Amino acid sequence: MTQAPILPGAIIGVLGSGQLGRMFAMAARRMGYRVHVLSPESDTPAGQIADVEFTAAYDDLDAIRTFARGVQVVTFEFENVPAGTAEAAAQFAPVRPNGMALHVSQQRAREKAFLRDRGFPVTPFAAISTEADLDGALASVGTAGVLKTASFGYDGKGQARVGSADQARAAWNGMGRVEAVLEAFIDFACEVSVVGARGVDGWTATYGLIANTHAHHILDVSLLPAGVPPAVAERAAEIARGVLEALDIVGVLCVEFFLTHGGELLINELAPRPHNSGHLTIDACTCSQFEQQVRAICGFHLGATDLLQPAAMVNLLGDLWSDGEPDWAAALALPDVKLHLYGKASARPGRKMGHLTVLAPTREQARDRALTARRLLAPEYAVRAHL
Ligand SMILES: Nc1ncnc2c1ncn2[C@@H]1O[C@H](COP(=O)(O)OP(=O)(O)O)[C@@H](O)[C@H]1O
Ligand SMILES: [Mg+2]
Repeated sequence: MTQAPILPGAIIGVLGSGQLGRMFAMAARRMGYRVHVLSPESDTPAGQIADVEFTAAYDDLDAIRTFARGVQVVTFEFENVPAGTAEAAAQFAPVRPNGMALHVSQQRAREKAFLRDRGFPVTPFAAISTEADLDGALASVGTAGVLKTASFGYDGKGQARVGSADQARAAWNGMGRVEAVLEAFIDFACEVSVVGARGVDGWTATYGLIANTHAHHILDVSLLPAGVPPAVAERAAEIARGVLEALDIVGVLCVEFFLTHGGELLINELAPRPHNSGHLTIDACTCSQFEQQVRAICGFHLGATDLLQPAAMVNLLGDLWSDGEPDWAAALALPDVKLHLYGKASARPGRKMGHLTVLAPTREQARDRALTARRLLAPEYAVRAHL
């Protein structure tokens, strides 16, 4: 170890205050750290758990400096932290992961070019900033694709599936002709992700491969193990370790992949932080992705990523509230169901409100049990939505 670790009792600063910050703060406080969070909102999911909640805009650099002066290390829960914010914070405390990881991962075209140029397998794509770029992209990538805004997309926002040049032009106009990428549409066999971590000493650790299914472009169900051949899982872990090193990450990173019918792994996107698909590590692994982030950014050895038992996670979106408060008693009548709620006051459709995790002897049993529990929460909605 090259530097002295940041010991329990120290204050960790978190930029962002959603559910990722909340679960991070829970892990950090359990380990004896104090947590300060900063975001433009108040009474936030992370703020409810933190010792101190700062409310300021991310571009209020005076507030960012004051915040950073009061902590021993700064981390973040989302990659759209502006570069200037990370730089201002870094004057007073180490920012982990570093600003380069943020810079690369907050713009899709830059991220894909970074990966491609270093030999990592990515979905065929082309960057678009002008009408001529769009024509060139349609020629090189093809007309069956997904057009995505280069910045600020999440949960399928800022994306359009296109099938012709006219649709692509209309979609790009509809996005306000902002910087975008056109990606080939991948008819994947399944989507998988690897959550990994890298410590200040350069050691890496990865969790097992997770299989993900999305509904309306939002993560719906995650299963660990993914149920793919071991060679595929090992290759995905190797790619994730390579990306952790290429970005010089200290902290946690998730790599989302498409797995093609031919067994090829293509990187879809990166997240330089804990990830929704890794939430099941809280209940299913020796050391969760959030404890791993604490260990990594505070300069300790990484924790064990072993899977205790096959696990399933199902997301609880705001839609489940459409007939009123979900029936918590019905789901919790299943004694093996673990409920995680994020403390959000208003349940809008598509908003991530919480998740359920179940461990079982097989991944299929875990999935069926978790889906059953979710249906019990809102039986009438579940029928309407085919949950
Ligand atoms: N090129 C593609 N081919 C097929 N499906 C895609 C493609 N790009 C995105 N999707 C689908 O949309 C989901 C969300 O896209 P993603 O690029 O991961 O954006 P977000 O930032 O919203 O998570 C993916 O997980 C996948 O299910
Ligand atoms: Mg994604």
